[in-house]
Formats: sequence, C-alpha cells, structure tokens
Amino acid sequence: MTQELTPTRTAQRGWWRDAVIYQVYVRSFADSNGDGIGDLRGIRDRLPHVAALGADAVWLTPFYASPQADGGYDVADYRVVDPLFGSLDDAAELISTAHELGLRVIVDVVPNHTSDQHAWFRAALAEDAAPAEGTERDGGAARERYHFRPGRGADGELPPNDWESVFGGPAWTRTRDGAWYLHLFAPQQPDLNWRNPEVHEEFDSILRFWLGLGVDGFRIDVAHGMVKAEGLPDIGSREQAKMIGSQVLPFFDQDGVHDIHRGWRRLLDSYAGERIGVAEAWAPSPERLALYVRPDELHQAFNFQFLNCPWDATAMHAVIDASLAATASVGAPTTWVLSNHDVVRHLTRYGAGDDALGLRRARAAALLMLALPGSAYLYQGEELGLPEVTVLPDDVRQDPSFFRSNGQDGLRDGCRVPMPWSGGEPPYGFGPAGSWLPQPDTWKSLTVEAQTGDPLSTLELYRSALALRRELPGLGDGEMEWQESAEGLLTFTRPGFACTLNTTDHEAELATPGRLLIASAAPVFSDGTVALSADSCAWWAI
Ligand code: NOJ
Ligand code: CA
Repeated sequence: MTQELTPTRTAQRGWWRDAVIYQVYVRSFADSNGDGIGDLRGIRDRLPHVAALGADAVWLTPFYASPQADGGYDVADYRVVDPLFGSLDDAAELISTAHELGLRVIVDVVPNHTSDQHAWFRAALAEDAAPAEGTERDGGAARERYHFRPGRGADGELPPNDWESVFGGPAWTRTRDGAWYLHLFAPQQPDLNWRNPEVHEEFDSILRFWLGLGVDGFRIDVAHGMVKAEGLPDIGSREQAKMIGSQVLPFFDQDGVHDIHRGWRRLLDSYAGERIGVAEAWAPSPERLALYVRPDELHQAFNFQFLNCPWDATAMHAVIDASLAATASVGAPTTWVLSNHDVVRHLTRYGAGDDALGLRRARAAALLMLALPGSAYLYQGEELGLPEVTVLPDDVRQDPSFFRSNGQDGLRDGCRVPMPWSGGEPPYGFGPAGSWLPQPDTWKSLTVEAQTGDPLSTLELYRSALALRRELPGLGDGEMEWQESAEGLLTFTRPGFACTLNTTDHEAELATPGRLLIASAAPVFSDGTVALSADSCAWWAI
C-alpha cells in the first residue's frame, strides 16, 4: 500500500534539514462534499497547488475520530479517520497522491492527552473510584492511564494542586464520583500518564499504524508536556500559561520527556526513507529547545521564538543568532515559522491595525525566512497574504480557549477561516456550498485564481522565492554570515547570495549588493546604489 516518493530534491538524505513544509489545517483547506468542512478528498484534489508552490511536504492537522472539542486535538480513536473528514481509504489515497506529486506527508500525533470520549477514558470513568490497595490514588488500572487524584479540602472539594489549564481555569475537573482528573487543556482532553508502560506501548503501535500507511513523519503535539514532575507539586503563582516561554513548569519541559522522544526516534529509524519527528515544544530558552533535537531525539522543533519576534531588526538579529547557535550546538537544523493555526496571522500581527503595512512586512518576512539556513514551515493562506479575520461573531466561534477565556490568545478561529481558491464570492471555491467559518467579502481579490499570473501578487512572490530556493545552491541548509548594516537594516550573505532587509518606515540607500533576484517591493537603482523600500526584503546574486 505504501507508495514510493517520486524522485525529487526531497529524495536526498537529510531531506528534512532544509525542507519547506506546508501546514494544512484540514478543516479549512478544501471541502469535497458540500458540508462546509474541509476534508481529505478536498485536500487530495488541491495538492497540486502545494506542489506548484514549491513545498517539499505537507503537515496535516489531526483528522482522527474526535468529538472536535478542540479542533480534533481531542482524539477518540487514533486509528480511525473521523467521518467528518473521510475514511482511511481517503487518507491512503491522499498519501499516495502526495507522493506522486513529490510531496512528503507529515501527520499530527496527539500523545499528551486523549479525548474524554476515548475508550480508555470512558473505562476510567466507569471504573470504581475506590483507591486501589497500597496507593493513595483514586482508581485502578484504567485510571492509572490518566492522572486521577483525590481533591484537597475537607470533602475533597478543592483541586489536587494549583495547576491552571492552558485554556484558562483550573487544570482539574471533578468526576461524578468525586475524584479529579488532570487536563492541561480543555476538560474534554484528559492528560495521559506517561509513567504507565501501557501508554508507551499504545503510542508505539499508533505510530507504526500510520508509518505502515506510508506517512513520512509526525508533528508531535505538546511534545514538552507528556511527563509531569513527580508528586505533581504546586506552582504557587497564577497566570501559568504566560510562564511557558520563560521558565520550567512542573507540567512542561520536564527532562523525562526526552526518553520518550529517544524511543520514538529509534522507532522512526527502523523504517526506510527517513521518517521524521517534529516537536511542538515550548521551552523556556533556545538551549532547552535544542535538547529535543539532539542526534538521538527528534529531527526538528518549531522555533516559536522566531514566530514571536516583533518587527524589529535588532530583535530579529538576536533571535536568529540564538536559534542558530542553539541548534548548531547539537548539530540540528533550525526551523523557521511565522504563523500556524494557534496564533494571529503574522500579517495582522506585524500590521497592528494597518493591513497594508502588515502585508508589506509579511512579504518581507517571508523572503527573510526562506533565505535563512534550515527548514521553513508555511501556514496555509500565508502564500495568499491572508490577514487574520478579526470580525467573527461570537456565535460562529468554535475555539475552546475563547470560551474558557484568558487562555492562549483566546481567539484562534480568526486564523482558521477557510481558504479562498477562486470566484468572486464566498465560499470562493472552498467547496460546493458554504464554509464553517464565514470568509470576508474582501477575499475575492486574494483567491489563488485572482493572484495566479499577477507578478505583483503575494502568491507569485512565494512561488518565485521557493523556485529560487530550490535552484540556488547557497540556500537551504548551510551557513550564513552577517554583514554590517545601518540601524533597522539586516544584511547577510550565503554562498553566492545576499539578503537585505529594511525594517524601517523609510527608504534605505546602500551600495548595490549584486544582481537582484527577487524583492518583496521593487528597489530603485541609481549609479552603484540602490534604495530599498520601507519594510522590504530583497535577494541578490553575488
Ligand atoms: C497545540 C495545538 O497546535 C493546539 O491547536 C491544541 O489546542 C493544543 N496543542 C492542545 O492539543
Ligand atoms: Ca466536507
């Protein structure tokens, strides 16, 4: 059943070191059957867009059986495709079509928690809550797969510790029989107990199931969260979600998670074709993040420090240096990412209320990212210059973090609005009828169809940049060197290549670095010098 990959650049060893990986948010990419929800057949039919864009791989967000309490990151059965998205045959067909097009396929695996509708959790709830002999915990073998604990207070009416859910509110929910269970995300997402060998065995088997179907790797959800500190100690302060990026918490980035990743690496390596593991890991520093990509652990980790960096040359310079140094210390490539399904789209972040400004910066940021050494992740729609949709009415929102308030950014629906493909009105070719979140009227000029062939469009900018990235031997994996530049500007060189970035709000003049390859906004040349437009990036052959 496994379909071999068409030989392309991606057939090389270490293909992942500089791969451009395109994130498909399954529910919002393309709908084949008119229910307004994206699905696997819809994706399969639209894969030529991703191949023509010049990506090396697609990453698909979860499409497994799920009550969809958190957009499919609440999995009820890891080996079943949710009927909302299709069938296992559709998944197999999607994988083989991708391979025929020279695209690898990475799927999500969600090992930190299951859905509360998973057979294991239902069995745990059904189990008698009386403490098993010799243990202070509530429950028996089924509850041992999760974190069940008695409450505090005279009647156990208080949560077992002070941990907060990333989505807001306490990280504990009380069951009808009085026991509490841990959920770092929504109550419908109980955390698994990775100290239980049964959990390890089950996930090894799940990985083998999908590897057998031909997937080229896994994006590992909450890869930093599976192991909790012994004894589940209190933290002693509030607003814990805000600390994730700056300090080690007893539920995140515990050293024990690395044993799990080592085991998975051995499993991945036992398959032909360099199957990869990508950590969605939040670590307090680039150094701690680099631990996830040591040679015997995962291949890549998302670089959220880059994603979170403001539009500021000094800050970008520092984040790029820190990222490269940290991954170099373990011999891994760096990854770069600007947007995903959990954050406000970068156009809107950079624009801070001015979409025209945001677009100029987003185009420049794309060229910067694609010129840096390592691998890059693109989020569907960024190649169209899509902004965040900030005007969604509350009654169409589905993000659980919105309803639990204070969590994450609380508004993750605005980056998940379905893709506009063609035509002059919603759903813009997304499917035969409707879309699960409304698309703005202004998107008619942003469709793939409208932008194709327009040399000034963002889509053609991405296509050209990705084509150049494949052609130029100096791009992708390798080294870079900073060159001196004026305040607000960044210049770096790679073999035969230079990249200039102007983050200021005015033109910047400099000696022409070489022959212009591509620019996010046309530079103006005069005798030996060039004026770089405000908020722009250019690539040069040197
Ligand atoms: C990270 C995923 O990207 C996000 O969408 C999800 O809500 C959490 N992990 C919990 O699974
Ligand atoms: Ca559908």
